[in-house]
Amino acid sequence: MTRLERVLTVRDAERIARAVLPKQAYDYYRSGADAERTLRENIRAFRRWEIDYRVLVDVAHRDTSVTILGESLASPILVAPTAYHRMAHPDGEAGTARAAAKAGTLMVVSTLATTKLEEVAAASSGPKWFQLYVHKDRGFTRALVERAHAAGYKALVLTVDAPFLGRRLADERNGFALPPGLVMANLLEAIPSGPDVDRSMLARYVAARHDASITFRDLDALRSIAPMPLLVKGVVRGDDAARALDSGADGVIVSNHGGRQLDGSPASLDALVRVRDAVGDRGLVLMDGGIRWGTDVLKAIALGARAVLVGRPVIWGLAAGGEAGVLRVLELLRGELSTAMALAGCASIADVTEGLVRRAPRA
Ligand SMILES: Cc1cc2nc3c(=O)[nH]c(=O)nc-3n(C[C@H](O)[C@H](O)[C@H](O)COP(=O)(O)O)c2cc1C
Repeated sequence: MTRLERVLTVRDAERIARAVLPKQAYDYYRSGADAERTLRENIRAFRRWEIDYRVLVDVAHRDTSVTILGESLASPILVAPTAYHRMAHPDGEAGTARAAAKAGTLMVVSTLATTKLEEVAAASSGPKWFQLYVHKDRGFTRALVERAHAAGYKALVLTVDAPFLGRRLADERNGFALPPGLVMANLLEAIPSGPDVDRSMLARYVAARHDASITFRDLDALRSIAPMPLLVKGVVRGDDAARALDSGADGVIVSNHGGRQLDGSPASLDALVRVRDAVGDRGLVLMDGGIRWGTDVLKAIALGARAVLVGRPVIWGLAAGGEAGVLRVLELLRGELSTAMALAGCASIADVTEGLVRRAPRA
């Protein structure tokens, strides 16, 4: 059995990633903010719901496909934007992009990629969105958006839960720094380089360039730079979601940044229910945070997400086997989802409706 053939679950991929990555890198990917309560709750929240399966439904064929912002995808499991893929494996963001395309899904590419956004765009013909942090230097922000549009990214994902960087104690203890030879490839002209630069300070330096003064009023201005759909990522409240749509966004991604920003914020799955109620059918609702099993995907869709995104599972796959490892993880999750659909009496994603889940009595 090859190493990847032994990966039967996301947990297996994480175990291998932990074994092969330097401690500093593994801790960077794994950790959350402060006491990591939200990181844990993201996962626990899925246990608070049960799948109230239906029987005697024709599930001989299941269809996991979805259409999102006009894009036909074979899977409702998208790749969340995460930083520094080349620290996990030399295949880096380009490898992830190829795997996402092969899995028939969409990749959201981080501003903090270690590969230029144009190169990631060229690595596969699969659909991609670009994740943006608004920088104080608005000219720089504009240039990034224009580059993303020119490179063929289909939508902008504005991350709004990181006006400042959450405190990750593991990184502080490890003195985390991007390993030599790796760079934040989209930000080259904005960050200091050279042998004298303290590399452990770079993440803070970049975060300090984020504009902590942006408000809902800025969403329109952002839209006017590039004619592409805009999603707001990092929303946990119904009223914020409604305001984002009122301010011109096409949808929201319910997320707490994988528990890496405000510790003590609600689990994503719990927040999803409120956001779904506030948004109704006015806009697209996606969610991420804590998805580790196909049954988690089923629950999130039943509770109102059109699709989900996965962050760490993709990183674990990448570390375990590069492009092939990412493909393995995406295919595993989709296979688990398909099985869960079959056993729950759902032939298509449209059948995954609210009545399919209920609060676990013992939760
Ligand atoms: C290592 C790591 C880096 C991340 N980098 C970014 C980023 O650059 N931009 C962003 O919007 N979100 C970032 N996120 C948050 C993810 O997009 C996503 O919200 C989160 O990983 C989902 O939780 P999960 O890891 O449990 O799937 C990052 C998450 C992790 C774990």
